[in-house]
Amino acid sequence: MSISILLGAQWGDEGKGKIVDILSDRYDIVVRSQGGANAGHTIEFGDKKFVFHLIPSGILRDNVICVIGNGVVIDPNALLEEIQFIKSNNISINNRLLISPNAHLIMPYHKILDSLKEKKEKIGTTGRGIGPCYVDKYARSGIRISDLINQSVFENKLKCNLDEKNQILKQIYDHQELDFNSIFNEYQKYADLIREYVIDVFNYLNNSIEQKKKILLEGAQGTLLDVDFGTYPYVTSSNPTSGGACTGSGIPPTKISEVIGIVKAYSTRVGSGPFPTELDNKLGEKIRKWGNEYGATTGRPRRCGWFDAVLVNFARKLNDIHWVAITKLDVLSNLDEIKVCVQYERKGKKVNEIPNTIEELDTIKPVYETFNGWKSDITKCKNYEDLPTGAKDYLDFVKKQCGFEIKIISVGPKRDETIEIK
Ligand code: GDP
Ligand code: IMO
Ligand code: MG
Repeated sequence: MSISILLGAQWGDEGKGKIVDILSDRYDIVVRSQGGANAGHTIEFGDKKFVFHLIPSGILRDNVICVIGNGVVIDPNALLEEIQFIKSNNISINNRLLISPNAHLIMPYHKILDSLKEKKEKIGTTGRGIGPCYVDKYARSGIRISDLINQSVFENKLKCNLDEKNQILKQIYDHQELDFNSIFNEYQKYADLIREYVIDVFNYLNNSIEQKKKILLEGAQGTLLDVDFGTYPYVTSSNPTSGGACTGSGIPPTKISEVIGIVKAYSTRVGSGPFPTELDNKLGEKIRKWGNEYGATTGRPRRCGWFDAVLVNFARKLNDIHWVAITKLDVLSNLDEIKVCVQYERKGKKVNEIPNTIEELDTIKPVYETFNGWKSDITKCKNYEDLPTGAKDYLDFVKKQCGFEIKIISVGPKRDETIEIK
């Protein structure tokens, strides 16, 4: 397990932050490789609660180096706020945070375009400018961290981009134009504050591999939000899958030792898009309340539903997940009856695969297997054997249905509310 990818196997918010925090003291380096401040990764211990958006969740472990890789899109304002927050909690960050010069910058017009576009076609984005920034990256007109710290390059690139964006803002959206000087001055301040963290991350990581350092790649979002394989267009604009972890960090795929999937014991989704097992009813509301299912980044209520083994199986195959951590099992303790979607019914036929288009996905009906609830508090369980039979039966079924091993069972938000199966 010297180089591991950890990723979400559903629609994000599976509890990646908590599990990265637990595992990261076994690694030397934790790397974010895609997404940006659309992520919200929560870690709780004692009476402390941290939510990280851009900085890897390994930052709470003193000996861990945290890397923001080339595939991440960085909002410098959000980054500096997070750095400030970390410092104010007396966590050392000097020499522990490294930023790739190849990572792209989120600019003010990205955030404005994100929200203007949302008014026209509702994806339910986080409004953090993620999509428009990746558009510029792939259009080869984006501005990178290396440009930010080179004043004349930044000035030229900002001029070119702003000329074009101002036309779009004015002519398509009837929005006021943005002022070059104020953005330039604002970003020069960011450049001065960020410069010290920027190093050649590609060579740093590859040298670390040669030195046999242990590296954990921390996924953001989740497999079903993948821009290629998710429920397009209701997805994010990056690849939160195992392939994306490699391209977003410069670590070759052949160096990956294992892929760890994080799954929630039920399903949630924030924003629009198909959700076959959604409980758009009183029960869904209850699960939201018990699971405190409100976005860690936007505070939006998360849509809740049953565990969907068809989707998770797809995520296992796509990412080659070797084992999983299942989170929030405690939230199901309140239920009399628990369902798992095992197949989809489509045009009168039962199928095991996800249809290719969202139009087809809208026509399927989940086929459920039903379990009796265990109706007892499991948050104090420390070993698998301590769990009630109903909970064990549920886990066994999920494991068989999805074809993976479960090595970690999370029974509460705190660090110590965790069962590890050796
Ligand atoms: P991430 O984006 O995948 O890191 O997940 P989030 O932090 O957005 O959302 C997961 C939420 O569930 C956070 O509030 C966590 O503190 C919380 N959480 C994680 N694991 C558990 C668990 O096993 N039980 C409960 N009740 N809460 C959990
Ligand atoms: P973490 O890392 C859950 C969702 C948004 C929206 C879609 C596109 O905390 O699991 P974007 O702002 O990325 O363009 O929005 O993706 N989304 C997430 N949902 N968890 C996340 O991150 C998400 N990041 C983006 O709600 O539906
Ligand atoms: Mg989250």
